[in-house]
Amino acid sequence: MKERGAAIVLIGFMGAGKSSVGRTLARMTGLPRFDTDEMVAAQFDLSIAEIFKTHGEEKFRDAETAALRELSGEGGAVVVTGGGIVLRPGNVELLRALGTVVHLTADEDTLFRRISRRDSRPLLRTENPRATMAELFRVRLPVYQEMADVEVDTSHLTHDEVAKTILKKIEQL
Ligand code: S3P
Repeated sequence: MKERGAAIVLIGFMGAGKSSVGRTLARMTGLPRFDTDEMVAAQFDLSIAEIFKTHGEEKFRDAETAALRELSGEGGAVVVTGGGIVLRPGNVELLRALGTVVHLTADEDTLFRRISRRDSRPLLRTENPRATMAELFRVRLPVYQEMADVEVDTSHLTHDEVAKTILKKIEQL
């Protein structure tokens, strides 16, 4: 097996809390934080929604993979990913090589409530966002579960509680 890196890699569905918990984890551990959505947005100098609209999802996914490759030499870090990053089989290997993969999840109603607070998710700009979300969740959940070393349900926890739970679970691996 390939050697695993020292990063804490957050994966999971939109609204699971990856970005907020990533910030909290970086504060608690002193590790640098990298967010693939931020890296891709900076590369295009556009928001994620604008990238989808102007260049299409495929170009976004290419840039997402390129961002992961860039991170491969980073060592100890908190890596926050976009919810769809696990869709490309090659990305799964890259993510696992970075370090310990932590799956953040929540019940569907909680996810939808959190996602609905902002209109920044291009994939959910459909006629029935709740149904679209349910379908994406059904397909993706097993992929997240399959590749995660650690799983935390964030439905009823604060960001601090989630971060502490992650660190405790990693210690116990
Ligand atoms: C996506 C999730 C988003 C962002 C893009 C696509 C997805 O990130 O990468 O809108 O396919 O689930 P978050 O998981 O941070 O919302």
